[in-house]
Amino acid sequence: MRLVFLGPPGAGKGTVAALLDDRLRVMHLSSGDMLREAVRRGDPLGQEANQYMKAGTLVPDQLVTGLVLRHLEGVEPRESFVLDGFPRTVEQAQASDEALAGRGQAPIDRAINFEIAPKTVVERLVGRRICQRCGIIYHVTRIPPRRASFCDRCGGPLKARTDDKPETILKRLAVYHEQTEPLLAFYRAQGKLRVLSGEYPIQEQYETLMDLLKKEQLVSDAG
Ligand code: AP5
Repeated sequence: MRLVFLGPPGAGKGTVAALLDDRLRVMHLSSGDMLREAVRRGDPLGQEANQYMKAGTLVPDQLVTGLVLRHLEGVEPRESFVLDGFPRTVEQAQASDEALAGRGQAPIDRAINFEIAPKTVVERLVGRRICQRCGIIYHVTRIPPRRASFCDRCGGPLKARTDDKPETILKRLAVYHEQTEPLLAFYRAQGKLRVLSGEYPIQEQYETLMDLLKKEQLVSDAG
């Protein structure tokens, strides 16, 4: 099963992808995480990408596509994965389709678009906290840790993301509408687009996705 998760910032793409990884061993590949890791390492790609990420705009296609396709090189030809945050433009989608086909890899099966209202976007991102040690995503009120500011799994400190400031969130949302929404038509034309509300509480959100994947015979009833 090879999925692309689409939807505005804060739609829950990373949270749901992490659950699929934990529960079904579907590899979670996040372009945002790859870029943040490059920024932490301070390598030239990270330094260049950081300016765009801080501004809430898209990192240029040639930088991101190269980075994600290098990660895909290590994936077995039929291994299941979720691409979270990539592709973000039609050019990125075309490049990944070509790369998978060119390497004899199984193609993308479905693109799932998680729809949420703008006010949910802001509420979720302002309250998001991420474990600095293991990367688990929390929300201060919706998905809170047992002990405030510390990770349930590893005890690491929780922090807000630097681009989760209200003005950057609004910029990211505008960029999503302008540059990423055209991708919906791209996947619709391939018959691969499926749309889910992203407004359910997290467990229900996961179950709604599982029901869809079972109906589409991408996951067995036992899964
Ligand atoms: P990226 O890291 O991809 O960020 P994003 O798309 O803005 O998405 P988010 O991570 O903000 O949201 P999410 O949908 O994953 O939500 P989450 O699950 O965390 O990109 C960051 C930047 O990198 C971009 O701005 C760009 O500069 C660059 N970039 C990345 N990829 C690129 C590409 N392909 N091309 C060019 N540039 C690129 O959930 C959010 C919050 O809500 C959390 O607190 C969570 O706990 C909570 N929550 C989640 N689900 C629920 C639920 N069902 N109910 C209640 N709360 C929930």
